[in-house]
Amino acid sequence: MAEKISFEAPRGMRDFYPEDMVWRNKVFDAFRAAGEAAGFEPYDSCVVESYELLARKAGEEVGEQIYHFFDKSERHIALRAEMTPTLARMVAQRQAELKFPLKWTTIAQCFRYERMTKGRKREHYQWNVDIIGEDSILAEVEVIGAACDALRRMGLDSKDFKVHVSSRKFLGELLEKSGIAAEKHAQVFLALDKRGKMPDTEIAVMLKDGGLNDAEVAATFAIMDTKSYEECPELKELFRLAEIAGFADCLMFDISVIRGLSYYTGIVFECFDTAGEFRAIFGGGRYDNLLTTIGGQPTSAVGLGFGDVVVTELLKSRLGTDAAKVKKGVAVGFMFPEQRDAALKLAATLRKAGEKVNLSLKSQKPKKFFGAADSSGASSAVFLGPDDVEKGVAKLKNMETREEVEIKL
Ligand code: HAM
Repeated sequence: MAEKISFEAPRGMRDFYPEDMVWRNKVFDAFRAAGEAAGFEPYDSCVVESYELLARKAGEEVGEQIYHFFDKSERHIALRAEMTPTLARMVAQRQAELKFPLKWTTIAQCFRYERMTKGRKREHYQWNVDIIGEDSILAEVEVIGAACDALRRMGLDSKDFKVHVSSRKFLGELLEKSGIAAEKHAQVFLALDKRGKMPDTEIAVMLKDGGLNDAEVAATFAIMDTKSYEECPELKELFRLAEIAGFADCLMFDISVIRGLSYYTGIVFECFDTAGEFRAIFGGGRYDNLLTTIGGQPTSAVGLGFGDVVVTELLKSRLGTDAAKVKKGVAVGFMFPEQRDAALKLAATLRKAGEKVNLSLKSQKPKKFFGAADSSGASSAVFLGPDDVEKGVAKLKNMETREEVEIKL
């Protein structure tokens, strides 16, 4: 006897049944529409990358989460955990030909061997919007604005979410003022990013391991209480431009936003639901040195990654689990086998005219047909009986209002 195989997907991987696809499509449609509205061009790549490109600096969580293996030719291969290194590689490959600034977007399937918690899977889709080759703060404004627009298109507003914004440059200046040398900042950022996820006593140990003395550790914690961004011209300009663009109500300054990836160099941001119920909805920032770290020419860049998992959970909780369903299309059915040809012909005619038609595959009793039409999400239905075919007319029923109109067959 064959060994019984588990029917479950591998841990952390997801199956999308039709009812899940309805949600996925709602979220992806908003991603695509917002990207297009803001002038981002789609690009894509394979989920498989060389491990060398994805291998990370020590201490970065993502580095430990990479799925990797050797292929039959002993090439060290990995499944991408994020799109950004691949984007950098693609840009570096054609750096001489490309016309900068680039505004590129994609929905990338990513894999991370995560500890599974609410909102974190081992596989997720991540919408990326990036602007490459632009120093101006307007690039940050366009990227964050596109993400806020996507959330609005999904049916959420500034009451539901806030984009927490800070600047690594600003934080670096504050650290330097406290006597903490620039070469220690990378370690400080990694430690501070863990705040809230582990006790401050452990953060303090990490900071000391990074070369800080007791006074510097105390100063670092004091800096984390900074409430004003008045001293940071870049953040002031970002908030001013967001006001003009009409999404300043979605933004708030939050010095505790650091980001776990070490390639960020300037503005960093992370979006959370206002109730604080879920993990980050999206995150990103400026990363001006990534191209050079992989061997490309110096190129400024800013972008974000917006996963599908958290936002879908948030949408279901705020809008209801049925919110993604939209009634559409015509259900066509027939009472006896003798009406089958007429039903098929009607379906073909309607499809040619651009309608979405779900044709019943078997003759049915009317009650059964209309019940099935209702649960299939059709907006209207036509049921053919012997009399209809004889007279050459039928009734098209609106499934919401139950009103009927006569149509010619
Ligand atoms: P990240 O913060 O690691 O950034 O991920 C971005 C978003 O992807 C998160 O806010 C979350 O929505 C989603 N996400 C990440 N990991 C998981 C997971 N295991 N399960 C479900 N969702 C997840 C980056 O990846 C950067 N590369 C973003 C970026 C693009 N920065 C510049 N350009």
